[in-house]
Formats: sequence, C-alpha cells, structure tokens
Amino acid sequence: MNDLLHGQSTGANGPVECLGQTFASEQARREHFLSLLAEKLKDPVFRKTEGFPKGTDEAILAMSDPPCYTACPNPFLEEFVRCYGKPYDSSVKYSREPQTIDVSVGKTDPLYKAHSYHTKVPHLAIVPSILHYTEPGDIVLDGFGGSGMTGVAAQWCGSAPSVYRHELETQWKKQGKAAPKWGARRVILNDLSPAATFIAANYNLPFDVEAFSKEGKKLLNEVEQELGWMYETFHKDGKTKGRIEYTVWSQIYSCPECAGEVNFIDEALDDESKRVKDSFPCPHCGVELTKQKMERLFASTVDSATGKTLQTPKRQPSLIIYSVEGSRYQKSPDEHDLQVLKQISSMEPPADVPKMEIPPMHMTHERARMDYSGITHIHHFFLPRALHVMAALWRKASSQPDARVREMLLFFVEQALWTASLLNRYRPTGFSQVNQYMTGVYYVASQHAECSPWYILDGKLGRLAKTFQAFGARQAGAGITTGTVASLPLAAGSIDYIFTDPPFGENIYYADLNFLVESWHRVTTDAQPEAIVDRFKKKGLPEYQHLMQRCFSEYYRVLKPGRWMTVVFSNSKAAVWNAIQVALQQAGFVVAEVTALDKVQGSYRQVT
Ligand SMILES: C[S@@+](CC[C@H](N)C(=O)[O-])C[C@H]1O[C@@H](n2cnc3c(N)ncnc32)[C@H](O)[C@@H]1O
Repeated sequence: MNDLLHGQSTGANGPVECLGQTFASEQARREHFLSLLAEKLKDPVFRKTEGFPKGTDEAILAMSDPPCYTACPNPFLEEFVRCYGKPYDSSVKYSREPQTIDVSVGKTDPLYKAHSYHTKVPHLAIVPSILHYTEPGDIVLDGFGGSGMTGVAAQWCGSAPSVYRHELETQWKKQGKAAPKWGARRVILNDLSPAATFIAANYNLPFDVEAFSKEGKKLLNEVEQELGWMYETFHKDGKTKGRIEYTVWSQIYSCPECAGEVNFIDEALDDESKRVKDSFPCPHCGVELTKQKMERLFASTVDSATGKTLQTPKRQPSLIIYSVEGSRYQKSPDEHDLQVLKQISSMEPPADVPKMEIPPMHMTHERARMDYSGITHIHHFFLPRALHVMAALWRKASSQPDARVREMLLFFVEQALWTASLLNRYRPTGFSQVNQYMTGVYYVASQHAECSPWYILDGKLGRLAKTFQAFGARQAGAGITTGTVASLPLAAGSIDYIFTDPPFGENIYYADLNFLVESWHRVTTDAQPEAIVDRFKKKGLPEYQHLMQRCFSEYYRVLKPGRWMTVVFSNSKAAVWNAIQVALQQAGFVVAEVTALDKVQGSYRQVT
C-alpha cells in the first residue's frame, strides 16, 4: 500500500506518493490529477451522471483537490478504496451487537463549531459507534455526509486525547465490553451539494495551519486597506475616527393616520431595556401605532446588473455600533455616515459577484414570503457595502497561489456570507450580531444588522487555527465525492461500516439553502435526486420513500456482507419515519434495533 501525502505543505517540495505513483512535489501531484479530472469532465457520459452538480469545468476544477476531493462524482474513489481498504474476505469473522449513540454530546466542541451547516451530528457523538463497529484500517462511509462530521469522527479515533480514551474505556468496561482499538479509520464522504462537500473536504484534508493563519490575517488587512473607509465613522468629539462593527437598518413604514414616514427601530426600540415595544406614538401625529397597523414602504431602483427595476422595502440606517481604541460605542448616523453610504450606493456593483437568478423554490414562495423583499438574484441578498466587501474577500482568497491555503481561505470567507447578507436580523439583546439569520429558511426581517467583515471574521481566524492545529487531519484520511447516494462511484462490497444522517422528510431544503453559498463557488446542486419532501418540487412522501429506497439499495450494494449501518434520523412524524423503515427493508437491510435518541425532545431516532 502506498502512502499518500496529500495537501500537506511540509514536504510539499519533496517527492510525494499518491495512489501508487510518485510525484516530484505536492504541486506536481495536484496538476497531474487536475489534468485527469479536466479530461474526464469533457466526457458527456460522465457529465450525465445522476446528481452531477451544475457548473463549468473551470468552476468544478477550482473547487476540487483530486484525487481526494472532487466537486463532482469522484472518478478516483474506487482506486482510493482499493489502495487503502481491505477486500472482502468471507473467512474473516466479524460480529458486533448493535450500539446506541447519544446525539446530544459534543455540540459545544470547537471542532464541531469550526464551520456551520444547516444540521450537524457532532463528531463526538459518532466516535463511539466507529470505535465499536470498526478497526483501524477499515473504511467508513457517509453518503449524506453534509459538513463531513463522520469523517472528522473517523480521523479523531486516531488523535483522541488520553483523558477521552480513559473515560470511554472505563465506561465500556462497566458495560462488560473490551477496550476499543484506537487509531484513525479512513472515510468516504459524499453529498449531493458541492457546498457541503467543500466544507467536508476542508475539515478532512490536511493543510498548513500556520500558512493559513498568516494568509488569513493578510487577507483581512488587505481588505481593510482597500475598503476600510467604508466602515469609518466619527466619534462623539467629531474628530477621532472609529471603526464600525455593525450598522442597524430599519424598514420604513407609513403612519395610517398622517401618512408620515416611520423608522421602526427609531420609534419602537427602547434604548434602556433593548426591547422592542409592541406599540408607540407616531413621531408626526402622535397616534398610537403597532407594526401591524402600519404599511411597509417600498423604493424603486434600477439594478444595473439585470437592467430591471426593483421594488425593495425602503430602509434607513438607524444605529451605528463602532469601536474606538477597544471600547464600543453607539450613535445615530450623522451627515458623514450618510454621505459615505450614498457614495457606496452610487458605485457600480463589483463585476465579479454572482448575479445568478434564484430559482423558484418553496422557501422563497411559500414559507418565508420572500417575494416582498425584492430579492430575485443572488447579489440582491446584500446591501451595496456588504456586496463590495464580500466580493473583495472572495476575490483575494481565490487568488491565493498556494492551492490548499486558497481552499481554506474560501472555507473561512464563505462563513461570512449569511451574516453579511440581508438575512441577518438585528437582535437588540443578542451578545453578538453574528449568525443572527433564521436557520433553515431565507427570511428577510424588518430590521437588519449589517456587520463589518472584521466584526464577523477577526475572532474566527484565531479559533480556526487553534482548533485545526489540535485536530490535524491525516494524509489520505478521506476520499470525498459529490453526487447522489443512489449512484456511488464505489465497488460492490468495499465498505466496512456506514454511519449516515439522511434528510428528514420536509424539514430542511438543503439544495435551496445551499444555493446562496454555491453561487459564489459557481457550482450548484442538481436538486433532482434530492431526497426530501418538497411540495413545490412535486415531491411527496411516496417520492421521498422511493428516493430513499434507491439510496439505501446503493448503500446495500457497497457495504460488505454482514456489516452494519447506523442511520440517525430526526423527524417525529410517524409517516416519514415509516417511509424510512419501509425503504430500508425494500433495499435488503434487516433492522436490528431502533432507539429514540434525544432524551429531551424525543425526536431523534437511530436504526441499526
Ligand atoms: C441531515 S444532512 C447531513 C448533515 C451531516 N450529518 C452533518 O453533520 O453535516 C443531509 C444531507 O443529505 C444531502 N442529500 C440530500 N439528498 C441526497 C442524495 N440523494 N444524495 C446525497 N446527499 C443527499 C443534503 O444535501 C444534506 O447535506
């Protein structure tokens, strides 16, 4: 078996072995596999694979780091398993009792929090299952891998600190179980969404943490040099310059009595208690108002990118929170602040921001009623200042010459997209205004906290460096592919254990939600095979069951005979739960144990 030195910059200038071949350097390895992938992408049959993401060859290649990660079905995956796995041998005895997991552990772990995703199972909840069902050298698969926590768990089995090992062994001893075999397992991760596999790849492939940290600081400094003026404000003395942390924008309403304009935050927010009052007097005529009594006002603008006239809710900046020499202050926008905002609004939007039209979806049309917000294209999610700054961050991260550092910079920068967008609500009593969007939906509130990039990202950089330094992903620890579970690029009977967390019926529209980040990468999910219930896409429970059955059949094909699969599933609806069980049995699995996992909500279940 050859050792694959993948993505590591130590030794990046020395010879590298990868999938049975030796390369002069890490760069030579990358160029070789990128050229093979580029060739493969020209094959129309390959491109027609079910679940193939939508994007140009260049965009797919820019996201990928082959052979370990491709933002499309991974043509090197079978070879990866052949190199690092063990072929099925019926003479090798294997026997395990089913084991229950506790999904509630590990939600505060820094590694779990290093990159958010719509739903995540913490790696520390998965580790005991991997230790129980597998041995070092085994290959674990998660086809609905999301942000790649199963991969982190598989690798963590090799780097678990001694305190953790001792605790687990003591616990197992009490249960009459022998100590596990410690050591990293290799993992195969798949997801339909390129946004998900990009997160999973960056979690699971090694990188030079110091170089990332240095380049991350440089990136933030350069953007400050270039666009810091957009976030300057004058302190109370009218001379000292402060740096804006965030600006609170309020939608403007009209008083039903006098038709005067009402800035909701100015009138309804109680400065002392930071609570929003239910009712308040009109600043013009004094009549008592509530939000429901007033009418939202709209402004017409011409979008230079599309040439179309847009009707957007009328907004005004209401509060500015800024810092001077480490202390935080609050002010109302003054003439200078308004002048700066006016100047930014008159600038052309950056040419390189994504301007894709948002496809019609359940979330925009039925659930969150996005139609009133005037957001029809991706760039409409951002106010002009946020758009300029996100474009600069993305552009600079993308132009980083060291490929592995570049990917990590994008992993870092993409985490600011949701907070920088209009989806970020103002929470007056919140400790921080970062990540204040409503989860699982595109929802634009009437109050928006427009955060500066440094407010969002400064602290994150240090935390990421520290966390990944401690974790240290292993060389060739993971093979990552993008596509549907229903068609995995793996040989039959090649996988030792499956841990998986499929979509839960109608809870979360992953493809729709991932569109925002994917549009920046220019590679988006093919939502056709997405295993969810979505009335807008004409997918009911029978369609969901059918899609899940096809995915489980594929799991059955690639799993070695007599091996286990653990399915965790969060949905309290009996009908959805039933659909999953039927799909499992139709695929050929025998259900050994079903457990309710979440002690508090009783909503998580596990099938083994
Ligand atoms: C519950 S999430 C998994 C989250 C993951 N456990 C984590 O910790 O990040 C389910 C995932 O299944 C993916 N998905 C939906 N349909 C799929 C399909 N047909 N094939 C592969 N992945 C699919 C979604 O994109 C989503 O990321």
